[in-house]
Amino acid sequence: MPETVLVTGGAGFIGSHTCVELLDHGYEVVVVDNHVNSSPEALDRVAKVAGRPLAAVHRVDVRDRKALSEVFAAHPVDAVIHFAARKAVGESVALPVEYYDTNVGGTCTLLSVMHEHGVHRLVFSSSCSVYGDADTAPLTEQSPVAPTNPYARTKLTGESILQDVCAHLADMKVLALRYFNPVGAHPSGLLGEDPRGVPNNLMPYVAQVAVGRREQLSVFGDDYPTPDGTGVRDYIHVVDVAEGHRVALEHLDDRPGMRVFNLGTGAGTSVLQLVAAFGEVSGRPVPYRIVGRRAGDVAELVADASAVADAWGWTTTRDLTAMCRDAWRFQERNPDGYFAGSPGTGAPQTGESPCD
Ligand code: UFG
Repeated sequence: MPETVLVTGGAGFIGSHTCVELLDHGYEVVVVDNHVNSSPEALDRVAKVAGRPLAAVHRVDVRDRKALSEVFAAHPVDAVIHFAARKAVGESVALPVEYYDTNVGGTCTLLSVMHEHGVHRLVFSSSCSVYGDADTAPLTEQSPVAPTNPYARTKLTGESILQDVCAHLADMKVLALRYFNPVGAHPSGLLGEDPRGVPNNLMPYVAQVAVGRREQLSVFGDDYPTPDGTGVRDYIHVVDVAEGHRVALEHLDDRPGMRVFNLGTGAGTSVLQLVAAFGEVSGRPVPYRIVGRRAGDVAELVADASAVADAWGWTTTRDLTAMCRDAWRFQERNPDGYFAGSPGTGAPQTGESPCD
């Protein structure tokens, strides 16, 4: 019997790529998503890219205990990957209660429903932002945590709750993955990052400038203590992130309890290096101007990625050129994101009710 994995937030950027990876490896995949920040179109495309349907898609908010419990009752869930969350740092400062409600409240509801249905295996979506303004590089899982905004604190709180739950429930097996900066897109050009409104993050902004949707990039500060003065991040290809989740599932049973791993490449890239790489790959130089620093930004966040390599014998394989090439392919083929008239329309639907 193939394993059934329930993916919350499965229509999102990382969620959709992970669904493809799971379908490609024989898993049955059940998606739960409320689509507040994602498009159902992404799930049509998941099925198209994978060449087979999702087991089911449920339009459900993870905070809705009754509806979530009905989803668990309807499927033989073996494990859960929990992506569903709000994720914009700036917004989290303006809407802290909403961030705690969705990210912490949603995680608690999920845990309680999992417990009710005897499901004890979970991969949790965490973030390198829990390290905050780190003064060490590269960052290991033992580096001190010091979140600097509500979003990062909700992720760290989620980890703490899971630590406590694992300490008290002997059957629980949890892997929390702290992603660095996921970027890029599926090489098919069908799946990618489709932010609503003005992108907060660097790569989608750069891609929208290159395609002509925006005039120029604002580079937030060139006076950081980094080689060219601009912020340095550990960009990781979203397909590597998806692969990392599939490999994590395979290692959930290695031992009970809670474990935390970084998901990064170990390589740092500055804003100007990324802009140059994108211009070269796309053949469209990206106009930019230097502006002041963005509040809450840190100089450098780079992973020590050796723990997953040691534990699972797995490393990322896609470099910055692949990240830019695939992000550009998605942007060029879907200049307006997942909207009508773009290539995924009419793709196969799910095996069961597409959105209930
Ligand atoms: N940047 C610009 N101009 C922009 C956008 C970003 O110069 O228009 C710079 C930033 O100052 C930073 C770098 O590009 O130096 C990367 O910024 P991103 O916004 O792409 O990513 P962050 O590192 O700030 O944070 C992102 C997500 C968080 C997540 C974190 C780690 O926004 O949700 O990665 O996973 F927590």
